Parts: sequence; C-alpha cells; structure tokens
Amino acid sequence: MKNKTLLLLFLTISLNAFAQKFDGLAETPPMGWNSWNTFATDINEQLVKDIADKFVELGLRDAGYEYIVLDDGWMAMERDENGNLVPHPEKFPNGMKAVADYVHSKGLKFGLYGDAGTKTCAGYPGNRGYEFQDARKYAEWGIDFLKYDWCSTGKQNAEASYTTMRDALYKAGRPVVLSICEWGDNQPWTWAQDIGHLWRVTGDIINCWDCEVGHGTWSSWGIWPIINMRGNIRKAAGPGQWNDYDMMEVGNDFTDAENRSHFAMWSMLTSPLIMGNDLRTASKETLKTLTNKEVIAVNQDKLGIPALRFSNAGDFEIWVKPLADGEWAMTFVNMADAPRNLDFDWQKHEIGDDLNNRRLDLKNGKFNIRDLYNHKDLGDTSKNLKATIGSHDVLMVRLRK
Ligand code: GLA
Repeated sequence: MKNKTLLLLFLTISLNAFAQKFDGLAETPPMGWNSWNTFATDINEQLVKDIADKFVELGLRDAGYEYIVLDDGWMAMERDENGNLVPHPEKFPNGMKAVADYVHSKGLKFGLYGDAGTKTCAGYPGNRGYEFQDARKYAEWGIDFLKYDWCSTGKQNAEASYTTMRDALYKAGRPVVLSICEWGDNQPWTWAQDIGHLWRVTGDIINCWDCEVGHGTWSSWGIWPIINMRGNIRKAAGPGQWNDYDMMEVGNDFTDAENRSHFAMWSMLTSPLIMGNDLRTASKETLKTLTNKEVIAVNQDKLGIPALRFSNAGDFEIWVKPLADGEWAMTFVNMADAPRNLDFDWQKHEIGDDLNNRRLDLKNGKFNIRDLYNHKDLGDTSKNLKATIGSHDVLMVRLRK
C-alpha cells in the first residue's frame, strides 16, 4: 500500500515536471517573417519558398532572421474524418511537411498559426479540444514556432488555455516557440513567463505612424499608439520571455524615416523582430534598415532589458536602453513634421534605469558615441551631441566605453 502511494506520488511529481515550456529557444527576441500583414489569407507553398529564398539571397538569414511563419488561412475549412487539421489542398498541394522541409533545407525554421478557441479569426478550425492531437501533427510536419490566437474563445480562461497548448507541444516532443496572441486582454505579462516565449501586448498593428482604425468591436493601431499603450510592462521581459509589439510594418508604405524609427523602437523595446512586408519587392532602403546589424545588435543584446522613455517633450522623444558591459543604446525620435536640431548636453542629464539599477556613469570617464544608422562615430560624451534629425526620423546611438 505504502509503495503504491509512493509510486503515485512519484508519477504525479514527474508528470508535473513534464509540463513546462521548452527552455532555451528564445534567449534573445525571436527574429523572422510572418505572412499576415501583407498577404492575410492569400498564402501558398510558392510564397513560402520565395520568402525562404529571399532570406538567403538578401542576407536576412545572415542578419539573424530565422523563422518563417504562416499566419491564418493555411488550413482547409474542415478537419478530416479523424479530426486532423488539413492544409488547404489548393494552397498547399504537397502538404505541410514538404513546406517545412524546404524551409529547413535553407537553414531556417518554420512556424504555423493556431487558435485557442473553436475557430481562428478568419473562420478556419480552432484548436480547442484538439490540442494534443494537433501538437502531434505539428511535430510530424516539423513545426518550430506556433502563433496561438484568441478568437472564438467565449468564456475560456486564457492562462489555462495557453497552458494546455504548452503542455501539448511539450508532450509531442519537438521544441516549439510558443507565441501567445491574446492582444494583451488578459495581461499575459503577469502570467505567461512559464507558458510562452512571447506574448502580444496590444491589438493588431496597422501601417500608420499614429492612428487608430476601428473595425466595430476592435481596433488596429499605428506604431506610436502601440508603443504607448502599456505602462510598466518592462519588468516582464527578458531572456526567454518577450513583450511582443506585433509583426512589423517596416516596408509597408511608410517613409524611409518612419521605417527607421519603427525598426529602432522595436529593437529598443526588445520586441521580437518579425518582418511583415513582401520581401520579393522590398526596396533597397527598406532592406538596408531590416538588415542593419548594429541596430539588430541592440535588440539582441544578451541582457534583454527593454528600453525606457527618458524624456518626451515638444514632439521629441528620447529612449534609453542598458546593454551588456555597461554600454547603452539611445534613440532620439523627432515626432514633428519638420526637421529638428539636436544639441544634447551630457552633463545636464542623469541617465539611468531604476528598475534594473543601472546608471550611465559619465563621472568615471567618457563614452564614445556610435551612430547606428549612418555607421559612423560621432565623438564622445565630453562634448554636446549635435545632429539634425528629419521629420519622423531617429538618431540611434550606442555609447561605448
Ligand atoms: C488576429 C491576430 C493577427 C492575425 C489575425 C489572423 O487578429 O491578432 O495578428 O493573426 O488574427 O486572422
């Protein structure tokens, strides 16, 4: 009897130990591409292959982009007679494994979209009630990333629903990054660290600088509303767990200056860098921004500390981000419609991050200033930093000892 009780206890403990998210998959913010912002449900096998080819050809893979993720619309409208999810037969005539194999053959990783409710946001089958079966299918196909949405969830509990999918993925045995997408409705930054690797913090992004576009019961948001919507979520992010400010709109009808600002801010905030533009037609300037290794290095800094706003006055924002080895990134954003002259006196400002107990220590020596978009050195902190910043553009610098 005693032995039986001990055995039961052991089994319960080991089963609990079994239920966890895959560790070590997102020590820095995930980087990749997602189909939704440009293609919505108009996706197919050839598109994925083209994007994978472009990752290699355009130097995106070398810059660190890794995941190619198909969003909503990859499925057939119905499950098969055994309850399995089925890839849309016309869009993916060779099935999903063939697509995943192609992506893997380029040294990249492949992701799909699912939904915690009964239907996806575009009306395809949801995962509710089929989580373990679907996770096995994903593993069979070779899926490395799952974006998991929140439509048609009725009264479901978010934490419990995402935990079920986490456990299902873990049980299926293939390491998968779990990307939680419940739009910040249930404050995932307070509970999702042990469940997913990233979580959306707002409703859907749209390609405007500062707007809200209403769709009846919900809204899409421009870049700045998204940046400003959540207070005090910095402490939730760090290696393995990221606040997700949504797939980027870089290259989607923004000016080059706005593309630079958008990319700089996603990098500063340690948001995942998931591109959302058509890489087959992207302009040279857009690609230059997306592959800027000095900016990406700020996003991928191993401390994983999100930036904080240092000041915000007169249409001018200054953001600061502590980096490893006592270095800092700073981004000066000109929100105005006209260019602006910057004259920043280092002696007059005390820059620090109380949450992480870090100070920019100018008393014990100066820092060299590196301009990350123009790839040049701008002197050091013993003199004022002077620059002209165009409308909606940024000066992004790295301060080095
Ligand atoms: C939701 C998500 C989007 C996208 C669509 C797909 O709106 O927030 O990112 O995945 O669903 O239908």
